Amino acid sequence: MVMEAENSFIDAVVDLYRAKDWRSIVLLNEHSNNEAALRLLWVWPSLENVEFIRRTLCESNLSGMISIGCGCGLLEWILQEATGFKVFGIEVNEEWWISKYSNPKFIPHLYPTAEEPNPVLNPNFALLFCYFNDGQAFKEYVDRYEGCLIVIIGPGEGRGTHTDPEPFKPDFGIYSRWNLLSFQEVKTTKDFIAVYQRQQ
Ligand SMILES: C[S@@+](CC[C@H](N)C(=O)[O-])C[C@H]1O[C@@H](n2cnc3c(N)ncnc32)[C@H](O)[C@@H]1O
Repeated sequence: MVMEAENSFIDAVVDLYRAKDWRSIVLLNEHSNNEAALRLLWVWPSLENVEFIRRTLCESNLSGMISIGCGCGLLEWILQEATGFKVFGIEVNEEWWISKYSNPKFIPHLYPTAEEPNPVLNPNFALLFCYFNDGQAFKEYVDRYEGCLIVIIGPGEGRGTHTDPEPFKPDFGIYSRWNLLSFQEVKTTKDFIAVYQRQQ
């Protein structure tokens, strides 16, 4: 029964994705209380959140975002369609993502390899970490990134979930110098979008 509800929710999302109707996808889980949505995304943004990210990219004169650990890439596709900015997604475990058991993918993945450990960490793009959970890998990505903006989405106080980095206590490593530029709550979920800018 639960599985059926989850599948029909995912089918509805895929239909809207095919119709390029990102706005209806956002509204499909407007109150972030649809359990099935968790199979696709840890954080379901509001229209206001999407606009916050669009404005942030515009004000920083960037060309788009590179999402590290993008999962199925639904958030990234929504952002790409809604903002007009290009959004790339980096993932690990290619075998899983191309298997028949994985969720549908909404953007193509880039996979780091031994020869190319960080595909296209273009400095004209912001880095995005949404519910990322590997602090050491986070620091390695940050070390190799020469751009000016990092966006972290994750839980604030009292949310009851854990990420590494956390949006308000990220460990950038001893040589990095990043300042919190702005933030916005994802609806009233206690998840936050935190934007960090490299110190001049
Ligand atoms: C908790 S999931 C979050 C997925 C998605 N961002 C979301 O918010 O729904 C963390 C994702 O990070 C990916 N991941 C873990 N280590 C990674 C690494 N070193 N580089 C890229 N992705 C990584 C995992 O495969 C997983 O899909």
